Amino acid sequence: MKRSVDMRKPAVGISLKMYMNQVGPVIDYTKKLKALCKGISSTDLFVFPSMGTLRETALQLHDSSIGFGAQNIAFLENGALTGEYSIESLIEVGGTYVEIGHAERRKYFNESNEQIREKIKLALENNILPVFCIGETAAEKSNPRSFLEQQITEGLKGTDSNKLDRIIFAYEPVWAIGQAEAASYEYIHHSHQQIREIVKAHYGQKIADKVRIIYGGSVSKENAGGIVSDENVDGVFVGRFGHDPENFKSIVDLVSRIKTAK
Ligand code: PGA
Repeated sequence: MKRSVDMRKPAVGISLKMYMNQVGPVIDYTKKLKALCKGISSTDLFVFPSMGTLRETALQLHDSSIGFGAQNIAFLENGALTGEYSIESLIEVGGTYVEIGHAERRKYFNESNEQIREKIKLALENNILPVFCIGETAAEKSNPRSFLEQQITEGLKGTDSNKLDRIIFAYEPVWAIGQAEAASYEYIHHSHQQIREIVKAHYGQKIADKVRIIYGGSVSKENAGGIVSDENVDGVFVGRFGHDPENFKSIVDLVSRIKTAK
């Protein structure tokens, strides 16, 4: 397995969800991140700002090594889809990432695996990196494997196999989102191993070795080190505990140190 670990670049992202919705705070936040993370090249970094502040984020980060993108895109490039956000707009502002299938979108907007599949395809066709969110609810906790397998295979059905290795899987157990603590290290490590096994079973060893699987759900500077200490965890997807740019930077440092020391 060592060879695969060497091949995968760690990744740390943050979604600001709908917490920071005005231009002033977002400019302040992204400016600080840019200064703090200057020169970091061993780990891929990305930010998903609140959708209404994407343009300001782009203006701040376009000349930095921090990537940015949208928390959602419509499943079509354009057309009669009132209220949706088009990948054409994302491309125009220079975004290179898109978050797809977050638990909150599945829950509040009834996003289905079929819609998620169309969004992933659209992203890959347009060279935008999809951060494909998967994760079991508390009710499925006793047998998450079959649930994860269904999310993965339905979400990726018909996707160009030459592009599958670009996907970043964000494993986010729904019951660990918005909590005081993340899932336990053992639980996370076991789930990541299962996800890699599922990818291998359906898409082959080569793709399983290459795809990055990051963990999200109450990640903090206190738990990030333990979370990424397993070879199947390639980084973290941060939420609330990264709202302080210094905390986000501490998480980035921890992940970079642990993943590049191997
Ligand atoms: P949280 O959000 O860290 O605030 O729990 C994580 C997520 O939903 O990606």
